[in-house]
Amino acid sequence: MFTRSAAFYDAIYSFKDYVTESERVHHLIETHIDGPSARLLDVGCGTGAHSVHLQQHYHITGIDLDENILAEARKRLPNATLLQADMLNFELGQQFDAIICLFGVIAYAQTVEGMAQVATHLYRHLRPGGVALVEPFIYLSDYRVGHVGVDQVEADGAKIVRMSHIATDDPLPLTAATTISLDFHYLIGRAEGITHEQEIHRMVMATREDYQQALSSVGFNVSYDEQGLMGRGLFICKRNGTARQPSVDLA
Ligand SMILES: C[S@@+](CC[C@H](N)C(=O)[O-])C[C@H]1O[C@@H](n2cnc3c(N)ncnc32)[C@H](O)[C@@H]1O
Repeated sequence: MFTRSAAFYDAIYSFKDYVTESERVHHLIETHIDGPSARLLDVGCGTGAHSVHLQQHYHITGIDLDENILAEARKRLPNATLLQADMLNFELGQQFDAIICLFGVIAYAQTVEGMAQVATHLYRHLRPGGVALVEPFIYLSDYRVGHVGVDQVEADGAKIVRMSHIATDDPLPLTAATTISLDFHYLIGRAEGITHEQEIHRMVMATREDYQQALSSVGFNVSYDEQGLMGRGLFICKRNGTARQPSVDLA
C-alpha cells in the first residue's frame, strides 16, 4: 500500500479538492440521515484528508491498515480516534451515525466478494437511520489497457516523480470484475541524491452493478450519485430503521 509513500501522499494527491469534497460529504450526510449526526467513521482514512475538514461537524474515528499513513493522520487529527484495522474484518464495539469510505478504498478488498465483506462491516457499524458514503475506484468500463500515469510534485525539500501502471493477468478485453495490480514507482530526488521506491497495490476493477450488488446484498438501501465527489460516482447507502440516539453500543 502507501507504506513507502505515506510522507508525500498529500503532495501526490494535491490535485484533489478535499475542502469542496468534504463540504459535499457533509451536505449529503445531512440530506440523507435520519436523526442526529455526531459520530463519523472514516474507513481507509489515509492521512485524514477528508476528516480534517469534517471534524468541525463530527467526532471522528478513523481506521486504516497502514501504520505509516495513520502516523500522518495522527499529526493532523490529534482529537480523533485513529486505529489500525482491516476493513475486511474489524469490530469497534460501537455504531456510528455516518460512515465514509472514499477514494476507491473499498476496491482494496481485491474481489467483489471482498467488497461485500467490507459492506457487511460497514452495515454492522452504522446505526439504524444512518448513512454510509462509498466512493468507487475507476470502473471496469474505464479500464485503459497498459495505462501509464505520471505525476511530479515537491514535498519536504524533495522532488518526486511517480509513474503508475495498471496490469491484469486476465485476457483483454475485460468482461468481468478482475483483480488488478497498480504498480507505482517513485523517484525521490534530494540534495544527497536520487532514491527509488516501489509499491504494488492490489485492487478490484469492477462494474457499477458489482458495487451496487455488493452494497445492497448486506441490507443497505443504495442510491447512486452520478457525479459524486470527483466525477467517479458515489454510492449513498442508508441503513433503514429509526434513530434512537447518536450512537449505540453493540451488544
Ligand atoms: C487511495 S487511499 C484513500 C485514503 C483516503 N480515504 C482519501 O480519500 O484520501 C486508500 C487507503 O485505503 C487504505 N486501505 C487499503 N486496504 C485497506 C484495508 N484492508 N483496511 C483498511 N484500510 C485499507 C490504504 O492504506 C489507504 O490509506
